[in-house]
Amino acid sequence: MYKLYPYFTNDGSTGLFSPDADDIYHSTYGALSEAYEKFILPAEFENYFKKNNEIKILDLCFGIGYNTKSFINFFLNFIYNETTYSDNIKYNDKIVTDNEKYKIFIHAVDTDKILMNLSPFFISNKNNIKNNKLPFENEKIKRMLSKKPKGIFYLREEVDELLLQKIIENIDKESEKILFSFKYRKYFSNYMKGLYAFYKNKRYITNPVSKLIAFLHNIYYLHISKRHKSTLNALKLFNFNFITNNNDAREVLKNDNFIYNYVFLDAFTPAKCPCLWTIDFFKLLFNRLDDNGMILTYSNSASVRNAFINAGFFVGKIYSDSQKKYTGTVAVKNKSLIKHELSQYDLGLLKTKAGIFYRDENLNASNEAIIAAHKKEVENSTLMSSSKFIKQYSKS
Ligand SMILES: C[S@@+](CC[C@H](N)C(=O)[O-])C[C@H]1O[C@@H](n2cnc3c(N)ncnc32)[C@H](O)[C@@H]1O
Repeated sequence: MYKLYPYFTNDGSTGLFSPDADDIYHSTYGALSEAYEKFILPAEFENYFKKNNEIKILDLCFGIGYNTKSFINFFLNFIYNETTYSDNIKYNDKIVTDNEKYKIFIHAVDTDKILMNLSPFFISNKNNIKNNKLPFENEKIKRMLSKKPKGIFYLREEVDELLLQKIIENIDKESEKILFSFKYRKYFSNYMKGLYAFYKNKRYITNPVSKLIAFLHNIYYLHISKRHKSTLNALKLFNFNFITNNNDAREVLKNDNFIYNYVFLDAFTPAKCPCLWTIDFFKLLFNRLDDNGMILTYSNSASVRNAFINAGFFVGKIYSDSQKKYTGTVAVKNKSLIKHELSQYDLGLLKTKAGIFYRDENLNASNEAIIAAHKKEVENSTLMSSSKFIKQYSKS
């Protein structure tokens, strides 16, 4: 059976560990905080929405959806500020017609369908995580969890409901089994499970007990739950189109026709999942990015930055104000969008062995094959090693 390795990260949002990739899906620092700091804040969506009322986002490696959720959260906060309620929708006192509403399109891609199905149910705002024991053995994560929780971001309740409405048709029996299993109960929201039952029971009334449950749920969600009403109201404020794809991102991109304003690239680290960090994959992304678009990623790796540059992008860094350090990379076609340029040190590093990027010419090689070919290229390279460069640089 499909197995999950959930735990609460330091900001009260649920994180996951992957024994297969021997990697964490989310930083112990805080899954939600990380999504905000690495993707939402550096994207400067406030500025984007000053000039545009339509956005297309590609969420590569959706997982349990923190990047998409954080975006929706940001957008709902933004739109509620902008909007005055009445029978007509008003942004900044201007009544808007259906055609003028904000149009949000999100394309979510991840090979793992079950995670995607479970995404609306994970708890993201757990208040008290004092006794935050890991339900599985991992010393490294345990140590990192001893740090003080941050808890600076809070996900609006409507976000998970909006997502559930969009993916409810995809939820299969296997996902349901995990969702309602005793083992993982503390990681899933009871409210969301109830809402799911409400939607399901409304349509599949099979026996007297489920009929009664459906009746009670209907009364609750239709007439009592403020949260549910607020979600339905939120949905009236903008056009929300959310599509999912559970294929390898390379296949998805090969056959994709959309042009995106933003791409969130949140694959496992290049050493674990190089197929989504190759120059060849980045060339595919280049063709799908708007001229004023931006790719954001958490990776600071010299080989990733060099691959972006060789695929035709301009590359800059992401700076986290709260962590007071650079926490990722942006790739753009329009250089003026870069806020933090690569330093002389960063550029120097690209010319060392550390800057040798991964290749996948036919866009179908296994991660193992890509790693092996890369290793060979590094071994045969006459470029300076990164450690020698760092020594020389620190002396100069
Ligand atoms: C670091 S996690 C992403 C976390 C996610 N953004 C979230 O908010 O939960 C990496 C994800 O990449 C997915 N993945 C791995 N290889 C992939 C591939 N070739 N194409 C698409 N997704 C892939 C995994 O299933 C996993 O969910």
